[in-house]
Amino acid sequence: MMNNIILVGLMGVGKSAIGKELAARLSMDFLDTDELIENNEGISISEIFEKYGEAHFRQLEADLIRNIKVRNTVISVGGGLPVHDSNMEKLAELGTRIYLQISEDKLASRLWVVRKKRPLLKDIKTLPDLESYLENQLKSREKYYFKADFVLNVNDKASCEIVEELSNIVKNLK
Ligand code: S3P
Repeated sequence: MMNNIILVGLMGVGKSAIGKELAARLSMDFLDTDELIENNEGISISEIFEKYGEAHFRQLEADLIRNIKVRNTVISVGGGLPVHDSNMEKLAELGTRIYLQISEDKLASRLWVVRKKRPLLKDIKTLPDLESYLENQLKSREKYYFKADFVLNVNDKASCEIVEELSNIVKNLK
Protein backbone atom coordinates (compact mmCIF):
# COMPACT_ATOMS: atom_id res chain seq x y z
CA MET A 1 0.00 0.00 0.00
CA MET A 2 1.38 3.36 -0.97
CA ASN A 3 -0.36 5.50 1.55
CA ASN A 4 -2.49 7.45 -0.93
CA ILE A 5 -6.12 8.47 -0.50
CA ILE A 6 -8.22 8.01 -3.62
CA LEU A 7 -11.52 9.82 -4.13
CA VAL A 8 -14.02 8.23 -6.50
CA GLY A 9 -17.58 9.18 -7.45
CA LEU A 10 -19.69 10.81 -10.14
CA MET A 11 -18.54 13.90 -11.98
CA GLY A 12 -19.46 17.08 -10.14
CA VAL A 13 -19.56 15.58 -6.67
CA GLY A 14 -16.58 17.73 -5.73
CA LYS A 15 -13.72 15.22 -5.81
CA SER A 16 -11.20 17.80 -6.99
CA ALA A 17 -12.17 20.71 -4.73
CA ILE A 18 -12.55 18.47 -1.70
CA GLY A 19 -9.41 16.52 -2.56
CA LYS A 20 -7.37 19.74 -2.65
CA GLU A 21 -8.71 20.87 0.71
CA LEU A 22 -8.13 17.46 2.26
CA ALA A 23 -4.56 17.32 0.98
CA ALA A 24 -3.82 20.77 2.42
CA ARG A 25 -5.35 19.84 5.73
CA LEU A 26 -3.37 16.59 6.04
CA SER A 27 -0.14 17.97 4.52
CA MET A 28 -0.40 15.55 1.65
CA ASP A 29 0.17 16.14 -2.06
CA PHE A 30 -2.75 16.39 -4.47
CA LEU A 31 -3.24 14.89 -7.89
CA ASP A 32 -6.21 14.93 -10.24
CA THR A 33 -6.26 12.35 -13.05
CA ASP A 34 -8.17 14.64 -15.46
CA GLU A 35 -5.68 17.45 -14.87
CA LEU A 36 -2.70 15.15 -15.31
CA ILE A 37 -4.09 13.79 -18.58
CA GLU A 38 -4.73 17.33 -19.85
CA ASN A 39 -1.17 18.33 -18.97
CA ASN A 40 0.36 15.22 -20.51
CA GLU A 41 -1.65 15.53 -23.73
CA GLY A 42 -1.53 19.33 -23.93
CA ILE A 43 -5.27 19.56 -24.71
CA SER A 44 -8.51 19.59 -22.70
CA ILE A 45 -10.56 16.50 -21.83
CA SER A 46 -13.34 17.81 -24.12
CA GLU A 47 -10.88 18.02 -27.01
CA ILE A 48 -9.57 14.52 -26.32
CA PHE A 49 -13.15 13.20 -26.52
CA GLU A 50 -13.84 15.17 -29.72
CA LYS A 51 -10.64 14.35 -31.55
CA TYR A 52 -9.90 10.81 -30.44
CA GLY A 53 -13.11 9.51 -28.85
CA GLU A 54 -14.01 8.21 -25.43
CA ALA A 55 -12.24 4.84 -25.82
CA HIS A 56 -8.92 6.61 -26.29
CA PHE A 57 -9.53 8.70 -23.17
CA ARG A 58 -10.31 5.53 -21.17
CA GLN A 59 -7.02 4.06 -22.36
CA LEU A 60 -5.15 7.15 -21.17
CA GLU A 61 -6.84 6.81 -17.78
CA ALA A 62 -6.00 3.12 -17.48
CA ASP A 63 -2.37 3.73 -18.48
CA LEU A 64 -2.04 6.62 -16.08
CA ILE A 65 -3.02 4.71 -12.95
CA ARG A 66 -0.79 1.82 -13.96
CA ASN A 67 2.21 4.12 -14.21
CA ILE A 68 1.89 6.69 -11.46
CA LYS A 69 4.29 6.32 -8.61
CA VAL A 70 3.15 8.63 -5.86
CA ARG A 71 2.97 8.39 -2.11
CA ASN A 72 1.20 10.38 0.54
CA THR A 73 -1.05 11.91 -2.11
CA VAL A 74 -4.78 12.58 -2.33
CA ILE A 75 -5.80 11.42 -5.80
CA SER A 76 -9.10 12.52 -7.37
CA VAL A 77 -10.01 10.24 -10.24
CA GLY A 78 -12.34 10.98 -13.16
CA GLY A 79 -15.91 9.75 -12.64
CA GLY A 80 -15.67 7.04 -15.29
CA LEU A 81 -12.22 5.73 -14.41
CA PRO A 82 -13.32 3.16 -11.78
CA VAL A 83 -15.76 1.61 -14.25
CA HIS A 84 -13.23 0.43 -16.84
CA ASP A 85 -10.36 -2.03 -17.16
CA SER A 86 -10.38 -3.42 -13.59
CA ASN A 87 -9.24 0.03 -12.54
CA MET A 88 -10.91 -0.24 -9.12
CA GLU A 89 -8.65 -3.20 -8.31
CA LYS A 90 -5.63 -1.34 -9.60
CA LEU A 91 -6.52 1.67 -7.43
CA ALA A 92 -6.60 -0.62 -4.39
CA GLU A 93 -2.87 -1.15 -4.89
CA LEU A 94 -2.30 2.60 -4.78
CA GLY A 95 -4.13 3.36 -1.56
CA THR A 96 -7.41 3.67 0.31
CA ARG A 97 -10.40 4.28 -1.93
CA ILE A 98 -13.23 6.48 -0.68
CA TYR A 99 -16.50 6.80 -2.58
CA LEU A 100 -18.13 10.23 -2.30
CA GLN A 101 -21.78 9.36 -2.72
CA ILE A 102 -24.40 11.90 -3.85
CA SER A 103 -27.95 11.54 -5.17
CA GLU A 104 -28.70 12.32 -8.81
CA ASP A 105 -31.13 15.17 -8.08
CA LYS A 106 -28.57 17.03 -5.96
CA LEU A 107 -26.00 16.59 -8.67
CA ALA A 108 -28.26 17.54 -11.56
CA SER A 109 -28.85 21.09 -10.37
CA ARG A 110 -25.11 21.60 -9.84
CA LEU A 111 -24.11 20.19 -13.20
CA TRP A 112 -26.85 21.91 -15.20
CA VAL A 113 -24.95 25.21 -15.29
CA VAL A 114 -21.63 23.69 -16.31
CA ARG A 115 -22.90 20.94 -18.63
CA LYS A 116 -21.44 22.49 -21.79
CA LYS A 117 -17.93 21.93 -20.47
CA ARG A 118 -18.56 18.25 -19.84
CA PRO A 119 -18.12 16.09 -22.92
CA LEU A 120 -20.64 13.50 -21.73
CA LEU A 121 -23.30 16.12 -20.91
CA LYS A 122 -22.98 18.71 -23.61
CA ASP A 123 -25.93 17.46 -25.71
CA ILE A 124 -28.42 17.18 -22.85
CA LYS A 125 -31.24 19.68 -23.40
CA THR A 126 -33.38 19.80 -20.25
CA LEU A 127 -32.92 19.45 -16.50
CA PRO A 128 -35.20 16.37 -16.29
CA ASP A 129 -33.11 14.76 -19.07
CA LEU A 130 -29.98 15.49 -17.07
CA GLU A 131 -31.54 13.96 -13.95
CA SER A 132 -32.48 10.77 -15.73
CA TYR A 133 -29.05 10.59 -17.38
CA LEU A 134 -27.37 10.84 -13.97
CA GLU A 135 -29.80 8.34 -12.47
CA ASN A 136 -28.82 5.80 -15.13
CA GLN A 137 -25.17 6.59 -14.76
CA LEU A 138 -25.38 6.06 -11.01
CA LYS A 139 -27.19 2.74 -11.52
CA SER A 140 -24.51 1.41 -13.83
CA ARG A 141 -21.52 2.82 -11.97
CA GLU A 142 -22.39 2.36 -8.34
CA LYS A 143 -21.48 -1.31 -8.31
CA TYR A 144 -17.91 -0.27 -9.09
CA TYR A 145 -17.88 2.68 -6.71
CA PHE A 146 -19.16 0.44 -3.90
CA LYS A 147 -15.97 -1.60 -4.11
CA ALA A 148 -14.31 1.34 -2.33
CA ASP A 149 -12.91 0.85 1.16
CA PHE A 150 -15.19 3.59 2.55
CA VAL A 151 -18.41 5.25 1.42
CA LEU A 152 -19.14 8.81 2.52
CA ASN A 153 -22.52 10.31 1.69
CA VAL A 154 -22.13 14.01 0.93
CA ASN A 155 -25.75 15.04 0.29
CA ASP A 156 -26.42 18.41 1.96
CA LYS A 157 -22.99 18.59 3.55
CA ALA A 158 -20.79 21.66 3.28
CA SER A 159 -17.32 21.03 1.92
CA CYS A 160 -15.67 21.81 5.27
CA GLU A 161 -17.83 19.13 6.88
CA ILE A 162 -16.90 16.61 4.18
CA VAL A 163 -13.20 17.39 4.59
CA GLU A 164 -13.55 16.98 8.35
CA GLU A 165 -15.19 13.56 7.98
CA LEU A 166 -12.63 12.45 5.42
CA SER A 167 -9.73 13.51 7.58
CA ASN A 168 -11.20 11.50 10.46
CA ILE A 169 -11.35 8.44 8.22
CA VAL A 170 -7.73 8.97 7.19
CA LYS A 171 -6.50 9.52 10.76
CA ASN A 172 -8.13 6.28 11.85
CA LEU A 173 -6.18 4.39 9.20
CA LYS A 174 -2.90 5.13 10.91
C1 S3P B 1 -16.14 11.63 -16.78
C2 S3P B 1 -15.83 12.44 -15.71
C3 S3P B 1 -14.89 13.57 -15.81
C4 S3P B 1 -13.90 13.37 -16.95
C5 S3P B 1 -14.61 13.03 -18.22
C6 S3P B 1 -15.50 11.79 -18.10
C7 S3P B 1 -17.10 10.52 -16.58
O1 S3P B 1 -14.17 13.69 -14.59
O2 S3P B 1 -12.98 12.36 -16.64
O3 S3P B 1 -15.37 14.14 -18.58
O4 S3P B 1 -17.09 9.56 -17.37
O5 S3P B 1 -17.86 10.57 -15.60
P1 S3P B 1 -14.74 14.26 -13.19
O6 S3P B 1 -15.44 13.15 -12.50
O7 S3P B 1 -13.51 14.68 -12.48
O8 S3P B 1 -15.61 15.39 -13.53
